[in-house]
Amino acid sequence: MLRVWTVTELRAALQSMPRPVGLVPTMGAVHEGHLSLVKQARSDNATVVATIFVNPTQFDETQDLEHYPRPIEQDLALLESEGVDLVFTPSTDEMYHPGFMTTIHIEGPAREFEGAARPGHFDGVATVVAKLLLQSLPEVVYFGRKDAQQVAVVRRLVSDLDIPVALAVMSTIREHDGLAMSSRNVTLSEDQRRAAPALFLALSAMRDRYRSGMQNAVQLKEGCTALLTQELLFDLVDYVALVDEETFIPWGGTGSCLLVAAVRMGSVRLIDNVVLD
Ligand code: PAJ
Repeated sequence: MLRVWTVTELRAALQSMPRPVGLVPTMGAVHEGHLSLVKQARSDNATVVATIFVNPTQFDETQDLEHYPRPIEQDLALLESEGVDLVFTPSTDEMYHPGFMTTIHIEGPAREFEGAARPGHFDGVATVVAKLLLQSLPEVVYFGRKDAQQVAVVRRLVSDLDIPVALAVMSTIREHDGLAMSSRNVTLSEDQRRAAPALFLALSAMRDRYRSGMQNAVQLKEGCTALLTQELLFDLVDYVALVDEETFIPWGGTGSCLLVAAVRMGSVRLIDNVVLD
């Protein structure tokens, strides 16, 4: 596995690598969720590129940015073991040269939910994803459905800016107790870690009810909120909503429906979703 730090090195390396190229953008602290994207990219492409960049422009609380885990050696070993050909690990200066002045602002799917809770977050994501795509020009880019709103935002970005790339969206990988894997899970205290699966349990209970015929959006939302409120360690149920997976507008009865939710435990925020089908 070749490691590069600059855009110039990345482009030079890619010139001699076979196509198609699959890109897996990450912020590191690699876990099985990331690796599922890498495995799919490996089976679909002749070349797999992964990126590790903790993107400061998508963090709203500097605290979270400072405390974001960065186990770089372990990450490189994991990516290499799954057959990544090229890993791009730029510095912040490499991605945002002094004088950097461009931000991509997305409306629509970026407005509500995570967009409302974390102002500027999706502009930061859109800007860095656009840069990574233009720097590496892959045929396919891989994202996780765990961050379903991010997928909707990137879908909009790619379509609106005519970026020639296909989006591959992979299922959420979970711990044995249902908690969605996340780089931030290591920041949970023991008690918080024990409570955290209640988020997925509530979402899956509602999915069961949906499947057994309760398809009223208000009832599903209220039922889910009631279950989440029962978990005493959840300080705040930030949102529960049924949305169209592609647009993130309230679900209108057709298309793929997602039940999305976010809760807060102290300073930790957990998000998750299930497809209602
Ligand atoms: P990060 O949180 O590191 O996630 C990188 C990719 O892994 C994202 O597409 C995310 O949805 C996916 N992922 C995370 N946890 C997952 C899980 N449990 N199962 C399946 N996929 C999972 O998302 C980002 O980084 C950043 O916003 C980024 C796109 C890299 C831009 O900075």
